[in-house]
Amino acid sequence: MSRPVGAQRLQGLDKNSQVLLLTSLYASTALKRPIQLELYNSCCLSLQGHPALVTVLARFFGKLLGQDIDPLTNVMVTVGAYEALFCCFQALVDGGDEVIIIEPFFDCYEPMVKMAGGTPVFIPLRPVSGPQKPGKLMSSGDWQLDPAELASKFTRRTKAIVLNSPNNPLGKVFSKKEMELIADLCVKHDVLCFSDEVYEWLVYDGKKHIRIASLLGMWDRTVTIGSAGKTFSATGWKVGWTLGPDHLVKHLRTVHQNCVYHCPTAAQVRGIASSFLYRKESALSLAATQIHSRCQSHFQPAQTESGMDSCCACMAAAKLVGYMDHFFLLHTR
Ligand SMILES: Cc1ncc(COP(=O)(O)O)c(C=O)c1O
Repeated sequence: MSRPVGAQRLQGLDKNSQVLLLTSLYASTALKRPIQLELYNSCCLSLQGHPALVTVLARFFGKLLGQDIDPLTNVMVTVGAYEALFCCFQALVDGGDEVIIIEPFFDCYEPMVKMAGGTPVFIPLRPVSGPQKPGKLMSSGDWQLDPAELASKFTRRTKAIVLNSPNNPLGKVFSKKEMELIADLCVKHDVLCFSDEVYEWLVYDGKKHIRIASLLGMWDRTVTIGSAGKTFSATGWKVGWTLGPDHLVKHLRTVHQNCVYHCPTAAQVRGIASSFLYRKESALSLAATQIHSRCQSHFQPAQTESGMDSCCACMAAAKLVGYMDHFFLLHTR
């Protein structure tokens, strides 16, 4: 990025001596022993996330993004992806900034932009022209961005674009070509991308989830948002994360530090870090495809119950007892 990115209202709020002290303490001790999950289990110390979890996330997503991800500066664990989104808008959007939102969109994007003083600028996905083949249903892939219309939305006031692939509510998985179109415009206009990838493992029918941060010139300007709730089918745990370059994530840390400070340790460690490390596979050796198929099985209707059983087994490995209600929601007792 060649322009200042942090929201002006955060200026002077970024230094916190307690945080600096604890960060250096963690760097020198805890990160060297990330697998000792019991350690620090009930402590409330690390605002960017528990060492066990940030270490796993850095290694796991570092491979997928083709980046050397530093657990302390490139990762921040949040109270669900919801808080991750809130931090992005509060930290990086100023009054007068425009934020491009692709329609249809997850409902909180618009109010969150407005709460930060920004102006949402909408661009609809439109059905591709041409006669519909008889007997063939339209798919979410038939709804696409018009390249010229998208380009017209980028102005000198544009600060960011929100990308949500796979998309809620359409289920559309943006193709590499569509991602490249967005990426090229972001680079050309020096614009940030908030990439909400909470449904990253729910990709079917030969489609591939493309991480926009892995495209040329995009790591530096993208905050990637994930959700353990969606990944492990346990939304009540409210664990999410952001991944990105320090020059962006440091501003998110300022917001996070001054609102919730950190995500509950028990959820981070017992629930989620353990899930990544389930069956004693380290996140390094756990192939993305294995996680992928495990997560998909949690969601496929015909296998919902067995998927939940496997989720309960994850929790049992973390010494928690899980049970499922009639809406297939997972609880602990
Ligand atoms: C597109 C999208 N982003 C973010 C979230 C929030 O995720 P979390 O439950 O981790 O806060 C949701 C939840 O439904 C969602 O659909």
